[in-house]
Amino acid sequence: MSSRLVVAAGVFVALVGSVAGGLGVVGALGDDRPDPSLTDHPSLRSTPASATHLIGVAVGHRALTSDRDYRALAAHDFDTITLENELKWSHVHVEPGVFDFDRADDMIEIADDEGWAVRGHTLVWHEQLPDWFDDARLGREQAIELLRTHITNVVSRYAGRITQWDVVNEPLADDGSGLRDTVWRRTIGDDYVALAFQFARDADPDAQLFLNDYDPTPDGAKYAALIELAAALRADGVPVDGVGFQHHLAGDLDLGVVADRVDEAARLGLDVAFTEVDDRLPDDAGPADLAQQARRLSGLASVCVASPACTTFVMWGLTDEHSWVPDAFPGYGHATLFDAEYRAKPAYDAVFAAFDPIEPDPALGARAAGVQGGGE
Ligand code: G3I
Repeated sequence: MSSRLVVAAGVFVALVGSVAGGLGVVGALGDDRPDPSLTDHPSLRSTPASATHLIGVAVGHRALTSDRDYRALAAHDFDTITLENELKWSHVHVEPGVFDFDRADDMIEIADDEGWAVRGHTLVWHEQLPDWFDDARLGREQAIELLRTHITNVVSRYAGRITQWDVVNEPLADDGSGLRDTVWRRTIGDDYVALAFQFARDADPDAQLFLNDYDPTPDGAKYAALIELAAALRADGVPVDGVGFQHHLAGDLDLGVVADRVDEAARLGLDVAFTEVDDRLPDDAGPADLAQQARRLSGLASVCVASPACTTFVMWGLTDEHSWVPDAFPGYGHATLFDAEYRAKPAYDAVFAAFDPIEPDPALGARAAGVQGGGE
């Protein structure tokens, strides 16, 4: 089933050593059923918005394959998953030309069982590169071959199954002034972005290909630059289908600016995906903070639902127990829709209401009332 691919000079050479997936793909739930009270709330994936939008969540291999409550909650509320780390270079490209897809395969198999669409993340990034990767030893042609080999193998393996790819992740400098100085730019040149998209399109002509980034600027300058870059690439015939706005929030944001950026992308014929939505709060956050968070996340959801161009809304992390935030920002957490005990938070209710604006579900109850009352 799962396997290790050995590839040389961009060409598939041999299939060796079938390695069993090992980590017990959940399904062997046995008599030990998930806690039903954790999914005793209306389902995000059954809202009207899910008819027109992918409603996704980034999940990790360990939790998905070993924690039945985690899997059940993800299946209850989401119709799409992003593999949070398991398709990055450090995870799959274990030695030069040698690929290990065991964990990704496990997750795709679960996605098949749960009826999830899958977003691929990510084919080119300057972080989470394998230890063997040493740009000092790479010339331009070698780097291009390495990039081609990687993208061809990863994308073609899941062709027809992974429907959206974040092809290039975080290509821009933080002020949006131009391309970030990365190993890819240094070794290949600015055209590494175009080459990556072309390799991905060649490997799966049907997958939707995104340019993905975050935006720390208050006026949305970096998202504007991302749109500009995507449009320029398209004008040059590069197969870019859309832009991914990550939206890792840390306080208030101007939703009008976000809506403007979505509209700009739409005018240029680009699809938009909100690819990595979360909202970190201090560890000691109280009800008023949670209510503010609910307003921010539901505001983002509403912006996405309002535009036909915004096809995809993905939470980055299922529960506060499984979020990257506390590791990356000590003293902060609370970033997802479900708390550390996997209970729906005010933000969940508010996002649900944004996805189901016509017929609010009476089961929303007190948490939603708290959202309406707090903070303004
Ligand atoms: O795999 C090792 C494991 O073997 C080891 O035991 C463990 C000990 O800490 O570390 C594990 O690696 C961690 C990896 O996540 C997998 O869990 C890394 O330390 C950790 O740094 C890594 O963090 C990920 C981060 O990207 C890497 O920069 C986060 O989980 C992931 O959520 C985060 O995601 C990024 C997106 O890809 C791009 N946009 C920003 C977003 C947040 O940083």
